[in-house]
Amino acid sequence: MEKYRFTYNDIHRTVRSLAARLVAAGCQPDVIVAIGSGGFIPARILRSFIDKPILTVGVAYYDNDNQPTDQPRKVQWIEEAERILQGKRILLVDEVDDSRSTLEYCVRELLSHQPASIAVTVLHNKLKPKRGSMPPEVGLYLAGLDLEDRWICYPWDAADIDDHDRQAAASSL
Ligand code: G4P
Ligand code: MG
Repeated sequence: MEKYRFTYNDIHRTVRSLAARLVAAGCQPDVIVAIGSGGFIPARILRSFIDKPILTVGVAYYDNDNQPTDQPRKVQWIEEAERILQGKRILLVDEVDDSRSTLEYCVRELLSHQPASIAVTVLHNKLKPKRGSMPPEVGLYLAGLDLEDRWICYPWDAADIDDHDRQAAASSL
């Protein structure tokens, strides 16, 4: 099956329109929380349009012995999260909503720090049955693009960015 392949410019344009839709929907975050590592670059681009501090979190689906697990675990979390997030409006950012498990886990963990609100945004949402669900406390969920359930090649994963861009151009003809 054909993969999706996006260039940095594609991603930038998607984030710009996403930011406009977030603002139009009344999203006025105090902080952006990026889920690493896929959410780092989208969050940074988003900050060019919604200029708020970026905090980062990381979760993994492998245990200390490098074995895959069902339960995510935090590999990095926000220092003094309670103090920093309590009463704040959070905008949570990731690159892809795939199974939704990571997003659900992060939303639930962030909710435990009593923020004022949580909005969630992703570059790409795969249209498929989801293992995780968006907790009802999430006031706003916006995806840049809804896509079929196919593998997405991101530019930051490319070993040869020129080849990546050539293939992206060829597949969009
Ligand atoms: P979700 O809750 O956000 O839906 O994520 P899920 O746990 O289902 O995703 C597991 C990992 O697989 C995530 O990476 C996610 O970014 C990655 N992933 C899912 N679909 C795609 C895809 O089509 N293309 C690419 N490149 N990655 C995909 P992770 O474990 O968080 O690692 P990282 O790459 O973000 O560091
Ligand atoms: Mg990710």
